This record gives sequence, C-alpha cells and structure tokens, in this order.
Amino acid sequence: MITDLILFGATGDLSHRKVLPALQALLARGEVHRTVRVIGAGRSELSREAFRESLRRSPQTALLADTAEWVCADTNAPESYRALRALVEDGSTVVFYLATPPATFGPILDTLAEAGLTDRGNRQRRVVVEKPLGRDLPSSRELNRKLRERFEEPQIFRIDHYLAKDTVQNVLAFRFSNSIFEAIWNRTLVESVQITTAESEGIGARSGYYDAMGAVRDMLQNHVLQLLALVAMEPPTTFDPADIRKAKVEVLRAVRPLDPALAVRGQYDGYLDEEGVPATSRRETFAAAALSIENWRWDGVPIFVRTGKALRRRVTEVVIRFREAPHLRLDGRRQRPIPTVLTIRIQPEEGITLRIGAKLPGRRFEMVPAGMRLEYSRLSRAALPDAYEHVLSEILAGGHTVFPGGDEIDRAWELVDPLIHAWESEGHPEPYPVGSWGPDGADELIQVNRGGRWVNPGEEPVAPGAPRTGLADIAG
Ligand code: BG6
Repeated sequence: MITDLILFGATGDLSHRKVLPALQALLARGEVHRTVRVIGAGRSELSREAFRESLRRSPQTALLADTAEWVCADTNAPESYRALRALVEDGSTVVFYLATPPATFGPILDTLAEAGLTDRGNRQRRVVVEKPLGRDLPSSRELNRKLRERFEEPQIFRIDHYLAKDTVQNVLAFRFSNSIFEAIWNRTLVESVQITTAESEGIGARSGYYDAMGAVRDMLQNHVLQLLALVAMEPPTTFDPADIRKAKVEVLRAVRPLDPALAVRGQYDGYLDEEGVPATSRRETFAAAALSIENWRWDGVPIFVRTGKALRRRVTEVVIRFREAPHLRLDGRRQRPIPTVLTIRIQPEEGITLRIGAKLPGRRFEMVPAGMRLEYSRLSRAALPDAYEHVLSEILAGGHTVFPGGDEIDRAWELVDPLIHAWESEGHPEPYPVGSWGPDGADELIQVNRGGRWVNPGEEPVAPGAPRTGLADIAG
C-alpha cells in the first residue's frame, strides 16, 4: 500500500536541504519501502515535470523524481485541494508535512479538512509541523488547539530535530541504564549544570526568519529546554513515548520561569550589516540564562544555559560539575581538590568525558586532572544517522519517540515568555565580537550565580591552585 508524503513547501529550503535528502537516504538504504511517494504541494503553478526536474537536479533527491507528483494547492482557492484528494487512494497512509511558515498552518489545516482529507482519529492520516511552533505561549496554545481540532495527538508530529540526534537519545540511555550515575544525579553531589549550544555560523541568508525570532525563540525555547528536560527529568516508568513526555512535562513544570534579571542577551558585531536585517534591529543572536528547578532532586543547584550564533566554534554539550571533595591535605598542605566534571558532548566529536583528579606518577603525591572518555563514533562502524532521517522514519512508521508533545511545548514557551517580553521593550543587546564566546555579561552571570566559569571547549583553564602539569583542568 502506498504512503503519500504530501509536502507543503516542497520547493523551499528546508525541504531541499533536509526533508527530501533524508527520505532518499532512507529509501536508498532500504529502511523505507519504495511505495513512499512525494507529492509536492504549494501555490506555484508548477507542472509535474518541472517539479520532477527540480528533484533530479540534486543527487540527494534525484531518486525521488520518477514517482513524484506536484499539486498546485492554494488555500485562497480551496477547490485546488480537490486535486490532492483525487491523488490520494483510499486506505493509503497520508502524511501532511507542513514545511511552511507558521502563518500558513491554520489555513492549510482548515482547507485540508474542508476537502475531506483529514480524518480525526485515523492514524493513517498524520500531520507534521516544523518549528517555529508559536512565538509565545498564546500562539503556541492556539496552534495546539488548531492541530487538535483536526487531528488526535497520536496523529500529530511536532519536530524538534535535536531530540532525534543519537547523542541526545543517548542521554536517556546513559542516565537510566547506569545506576551509578543516576545515584549521584542530584543536589547532594551536583554543584552546577551548564548547557551550551554554540554555533560558529552567523545567520546566513535567513535574516527574515531570524530577525523575527532571535536566539530565545530559535534555540532556547526548543532545543535547549528539551535537552535540559532529558538531563533533569525523573526516570520514566517505561521508555514509551507517552511516559517520556510525561516525565519531561513534569520537570519543565518545576523549572522556574526565566528571570530577565538572571539572563543576558547579545548581538554579534556586524549583525546589523547582514543583508535584510534592519539597521535598528535589537534582535538577540545570543542568550544566556541562570535558571533553577524547584523540585526535590535539583533544589538549589544552579543551572546555566547559553546559545548563540557567530561564536568561537560549533559545539553542543552538557557539563555537570560535581561537588569538590570536602578535604584534601597533601604534603602537609591543604589543597584545592580537582573537581570532577562530566561532559556530555552532543556534537561534534560526540562522546562523554569524565574529568577526575589523579595522582601524577612519581614519588611525590601530586594531583593532576585526568580524563576518561567515551568516543561515541567508536561504538559502531556505521556513521551517526542524520537527525532528519530519524525523524522521517519515525513519522512513516507512526512512532513518537523523538517528538515533543504539545504540553511540553506550551510549557517551554511559558518559561521563556518573561525574557521575550522584557527584551522587547529593553534597549540594545550587548555586542560581542564574531568568534568570541559571547558578551562579557554572560561570564559575569555565571560567576555571580555560583557557577564558576563557562566551560569553553578547547580552552579549559587551569584551576587556581592546580599543579602546573601542562594538563588542562576544567573550569576553576
Ligand atoms: C535550527 C535553528 O532549529 O537548528 C537554526 O533554526 C540552527 O538556527 C539549527 O542553526 C542548529 O541545528 P544543528 O543540528 O546544526 O545543531
């Protein structure tokens, strides 16, 4: 039986860069049946041949061309949706993939429903929405209302591609299949937590989208808070998607809404000269915040998050810093112990590192920082799967493991809304040089809130008091 992937926005950037190449890769590896057919849908009066030709032009999508269809579907001319209806066979699986701007979601859903294409409760009819899933809590609620009016939850797939990264899924495996870590994962032994999602690229050609969004809406509300939820949540009863979602919502409920007084926003030098950015834009390209989780496990543990564009390097990692040993007397002197730091590197050079203090070989009792490292790429000869391939194969199979639920998304907006509102009326963000680690304010933020220093990969400072061995220690 055929599966129709009806792709709205099929000629757009996202479809060509991510969605269609991921589908082709799955087909080429035999992970998806050849019976999947792409139906491009959009307002352009493209012919089927012209659409096929556009797919043939890229080696990453050429294999999809021969069976692809194009339908001119315009919500202003609802009768145009009848052509879609005519293509879809009864009993086939139909995925409506909305790779279009959010303003189009409502009209597309309504027109699909009017054309008799949606079927609430029928799991063979699925809808996929891409971020931004709202721009604040009210718009997020409205989107959820709209989706649920036409579809039931199991038919809805909301994409956060970070959840589909293998190393993000591994956070769950690491935490909940190794009891030794779970036992120390709490306020008794954790001193602080840092989450960094840094990118070296600027905004590229996306000024229209980015200047309307900024770092909080683009990264913090979704990818960063999802990562935090996985790091901080309680063990789920099972690994079923519903139980994982429940555990994530629960911990997000315990996170205190972000306080503008405990947050810093930055804008990289030259942002205002980017093509399409208004010369007076106050949009943030960097955001950092200190936050807290008010529950039994995390009470009092300072948590820091930061994300930004045009930074020193591309890196996403979670750093858990453990409390120092209470007492260390060596050579008759009281010494500052080397802190134990666990780093979960999501990307690149994926892996997990445990930084510990060790004795330097030799007669003297001298401590040095040392590391134990798991290199994720060594676990399998296969390359790490692309997040979009994972997302797509789940959607085609009807699974929900890597998708956030609507409630999580609402709550995440509720957490960031205070920042968004405060920054709308405040002055200019703090400038920072391209290739730096962001504005100075971010360093101050972490220092004054009991977090020490940001761990910047590649330049881990030697801790004060640590022996000069040439080995680097993590964040003093
Ligand atoms: C997207 C954001 O969701 O994630 C982009 O809109 C960002 O601005 C991208 O560049 C980062 O994804 P990744 O997988 O490259 O870390």
